[in-house]
Amino acid sequence: MATNRTFTMIKPDAVEAGNIGGIINMITEGGFKIVSMKLTQLTVRDAQKFYEVHSERPFYGELVEFMSRGPIVAAILEKENAVEDFRKLIGATNPAEAAEGTIRKKYAKSIGENAVHGSDSDENAAIESAFHFSGREQF
Ligand code: CMP
Repeated sequence: MATNRTFTMIKPDAVEAGNIGGIINMITEGGFKIVSMKLTQLTVRDAQKFYEVHSERPFYGELVEFMSRGPIVAAILEKENAVEDFRKLIGATNPAEAAEGTIRKKYAKSIGENAVHGSDSDENAAIESAFHFSGREQF
């Protein structure tokens, strides 16, 4: 996996609110190329596994329930400096702290239901991408 890639999910809150198109538009306007993309739904077990790193956090149960309650859009994105630049584009985890012009400022409802996910490192981008996409689905 090249290090100029990151992984994202448009979360159930944003899909439910009809914001898939608006968010994809901000992503492509931000200079990211879509390498893989699908509408899918995490099972409870998928969500538990994907967020295993947070399993000791008090919000883990809520997070698993939220992330598995409806469809998500999973995608791999490519751009120079993808992980860092994408985290800038999505903004702070808590939308109340997200900068103007960021995806979470525009679309996130709360710290838990925050519209989008972005990988926090090249290593996690590769792990998270492989969780959702086979090599044949990466273009
Ligand atoms: P993300 O950064 O994509 O991955 C971890 C997720 O946990 C985060 O988005 C939020 O959806 C959720 N999260 C982080 N902090 C809290 C919190 N204090 N309360 C509820 N959910 C949280």
